[in-house]
Amino acid sequence: MQAFRASILHFLDDPDQVGEAESYQYFEDGILLVKGGQIEAVGNAEELLAAHPEAELHRFENSLITPGFIDTHIHYPQTEIIAAYGERLLEWLETYTYPAEIKFADRTYARSVAERFLDEMLRCGTTTALVFGTVHPGSVDAFFEACEQRELRMIAGKVLMDRNAPDELLDSAEQGYLDSKNLIEKWHGRGRLSYAVTPRFAITSTPRQLQLAGRLLREHPGVFLQTHLSENPSELRWVEELYPDSKHYLDVYDQAGLTGRRSVFAHCLHLCDGEWRRLAETSSNIAFCPASNLFLGSGLFKLKRAVAEGVCVGMGTDVGAGPSFSLLQTLADAYKTQQLQEYGLNPFKAFYLATLGGARCLDFEHLIGNFAAGKEADFLVLDKVASPLLEYRMRHCDSLAEQLSVMAMLGDDRLTGAVYVAGKLAYRK
Ligand code: GUN
Ligand code: ZN
Repeated sequence: MQAFRASILHFLDDPDQVGEAESYQYFEDGILLVKGGQIEAVGNAEELLAAHPEAELHRFENSLITPGFIDTHIHYPQTEIIAAYGERLLEWLETYTYPAEIKFADRTYARSVAERFLDEMLRCGTTTALVFGTVHPGSVDAFFEACEQRELRMIAGKVLMDRNAPDELLDSAEQGYLDSKNLIEKWHGRGRLSYAVTPRFAITSTPRQLQLAGRLLREHPGVFLQTHLSENPSELRWVEELYPDSKHYLDVYDQAGLTGRRSVFAHCLHLCDGEWRRLAETSSNIAFCPASNLFLGSGLFKLKRAVAEGVCVGMGTDVGAGPSFSLLQTLADAYKTQQLQEYGLNPFKAFYLATLGGARCLDFEHLIGNFAAGKEADFLVLDKVASPLLEYRMRHCDSLAEQLSVMAMLGDDRLTGAVYVAGKLAYRK
């Protein structure tokens, strides 16, 4: 048994559903008890230490323990082009993204990028993510092998693209189906790994490929679906041209059977009423990627509308269109995008979105996302005084809400003091 002592925060529910006060537990001087890679208990230090004098104690000063952050949308092959200058979505794909993804035909190269990508994620406190590979099946093998070694809970998939991209990045509807099926059989449910069927977006798949993606979901219940939806105005116009018979953009995916509670649609910036309704009706999920949306100038996500419609939302960095691996920095951008729409993003809601909200979005609430007994012990230790400015500013905080806000607004990988995966140290500053 191990006991981790610091301030501890975790969420029991969505602050928008049960009210802020009921949504979280906070222990100013807390203990997280971990045994066999799982959460044993969380509570006040004095009580739990008295009950478990045998536990091996790890103490962290000026620190806040939270569940590991969950990134619901990210591209590992885009690590090398993060923060590329001066384009919007479609030109950015042509100029930077596709040329980088072509290199992943080389499996050794893919493995080296996967390792660097996981190092960066852990440095930022992210312990679970829903991840795009490239069109090459070997890119997913390389990624999962790296994750398996680190015992990370991860979801990933091979990109499906059979049109409107460079030849080197195209599969065919049939080959994409077969490659995905083989990867599902090899990886889905192995250890902590899960597979996501991954059509890049409506523009780069034929209707036939999307149909076969739907067939994969039906043939393999429990597998995930990830794609992009309604990000950029030029993209929307192109989708309309390619699918004149669809009611709207989401309908393209819906008709192929790609909506559902294990489906995650990234961006969702320019949705019509019908799309909002269908997302809610099908229990589909949204990956909110504010840093990417600002960086590519794509638009502002309507979080207030998502709450009103009852659609489940998680946070996504969307690296490499998103210029940071840090979900703290992403929360800061989330706050700013909502300020511009006169909606104040509550700091408790923000930390909920990066933890339990992400777990719900990925249908993993029974496994991760908070410190309920029996869940997997993925957590991080945030150093509240990681920089001179933070240390100074923290002294002038008089509520937990203010501390959380300051950590998000001034936060980045410097705040990550330590990260534990399945109860084992995976990163230390
Ligand atoms: N739409 C289609 N592909 C991509 C991608 O790689 N990144 C983003 N942000 N949007 C996309
Ligand atoms: Zn993306």
